[in-house]
Amino acid sequence: MDVSSIVPNRLFNDLAYLWPVMSPPQEYEEEAACWRTLLSQSLGPGRHPILELGVGGGHNLSHLTDGFDATAVDISQQMLRHSMALNPGVKHIVSDMRYVRLGRTFKAVLIHDAISCMTTARDLSSVFTTAATHLKPGGLLLVSPDYFADGITLPLIECRNCSGSDIDLTYLEYAYDPDPSDTMLDVILTYLIRSSGGLQIEHDRFQVGLFARSTWRKLMHSAGFEFSERSFHLPVQDMTYTILMGILR
Ligand SMILES: C[S@@+](CC[C@H](N)C(=O)[O-])C[C@H]1O[C@@H](n2cnc3c(N)ncnc32)[C@H](O)[C@@H]1O
Repeated sequence: MDVSSIVPNRLFNDLAYLWPVMSPPQEYEEEAACWRTLLSQSLGPGRHPILELGVGGGHNLSHLTDGFDATAVDISQQMLRHSMALNPGVKHIVSDMRYVRLGRTFKAVLIHDAISCMTTARDLSSVFTTAATHLKPGGLLLVSPDYFADGITLPLIECRNCSGSDIDLTYLEYAYDPDPSDTMLDVILTYLIRSSGGLQIEHDRFQVGLFARSTWRKLMHSAGFEFSERSFHLPVQDMTYTILMGILR
């Protein structure tokens, strides 16, 4: 099978029903605690208005909604449907994070792993401009890229089995760099989906952004943010987790 014959981005479209099985909300508890710490430290007490761009299934956000008044944007109606069910108190909007303009400001803009869907410096800059447009000076931008070009060892390979109430899912994820001169990785996914209907095998592919730390710093600074980097140790996942932080000048 030629890679180019694989339909891209299926996980956020016809295969979006797999998202809660593949990446269940409870697995975000540790990460969300880091987001909560940074939000609380920066914003202080109160139920502040926050905006998440690329909310997906709202799994990370589901751990923050009790303390914040959230609005959420995603380009995929199928993914937003998951978040609407999980986060009924949140206002949901279908739109592109590069261009959405809601005509109001928030105390903080969050962009979790969805920022990895931006594959060029131009797209990243557009998203940071969106964030700046929805903040007042002193407002907070939090971003957590999945990948940094610095020190990455490729290919990245993950194989997992996860069970939902009526689906048993095994998937293989393979991330590689077919063109080191650009700013993206290709990710190939194979899903083995067992349900009462039998075993179904599906393929998927994505392109994700791969930028050096210096590029994140430069682009956030150009969009008007004072940049800093916060790292946390996640004990359950036994990994270092990085959130990029911008304060609008
Ligand atoms: C990995 S998922 C996010 C999962 C989310 N962190 C959660 O907790 O469930 C990435 C999301 O980014 C969204 N996305 C990709 N490009 C986008 C864009 N240009 N504008 C808005 N959302 C986008 C996808 O539709 C997808 O829902």
